[in-house]
Amino acid sequence: MSKRKRDISRRQFLEGSGAVLVAATAAPKLSAQLSAAIPPATDGAAAGVPSTAIRLVVNGTEHQLEVEDRWTLAELLRDHLGLTGTKIGCDRGECGACTVLLDGKPVYSCSNLAVWADGREVRTVEGLAHGDQLDPLQRAFIEHDGPQCGFCTSGQLMSAKGLLTRNAHPTANEVRAAMTGNICRCSNYNRYVEAVLAAATGDAKTSNRGAGHSTAPLKRGAKASASAGGA
Ligand code: FES
Ligand code: FES
Repeated sequence: MSKRKRDISRRQFLEGSGAVLVAATAAPKLSAQLSAAIPPATDGAAAGVPSTAIRLVVNGTEHQLEVEDRWTLAELLRDHLGLTGTKIGCDRGECGACTVLLDGKPVYSCSNLAVWADGREVRTVEGLAHGDQLDPLQRAFIEHDGPQCGFCTSGQLMSAKGLLTRNAHPTANEVRAAMTGNICRCSNYNRYVEAVLAAATGDAKTSNRGAGHSTAPLKRGAKASASAGGA
């Protein structure tokens, strides 16, 4: 990590986070640079705002882009890479709605700066499915009626994915412990735990079936929040 990145203090981060609320509507949208040269420092950044060129892999795709030093990872993903499946609930590290995997570990993307993701690998809920084949966790969430309003669901999925990656056969208490940082306002915790246990034991169906057990492929709609979520 460069000296410049280390020098970004908590005070600077908090000041920047406040200022970005004012500047966000005026700042032009930054396009992801898939393989081209790193764009100029002012591309997408407000005038006079410190920015840094970073390189990261998101859902298997490499991005080289210029980020304002005050952007959070959640902002980068949602506002500049168009990955709106990651939700922002509290925006202060309390609810877990913004959870993504950073080098395989669940983190709150609202509480990590985008520059801290330099050289690292990010996985979001959009990266779980393979084409139209949902991840077994997503299928289990649907089959166990995990999503209610669905706002917490992408964060729940990513915490669960992080758990199953490091512990393929967790106990119920281990699932509860791993997902304790993900608040569900609909209080559907038991269903989420059941779904994770089902996915771990291979009980999730191998076809893309919804809770109603239709044989039709999953369409965006009633249960689409388990696959990616809207804006
Ligand atoms: S939005 Fe990040 S923890 Fe709530
Ligand atoms: S399903 Fe509504 S907040 Fe969890």
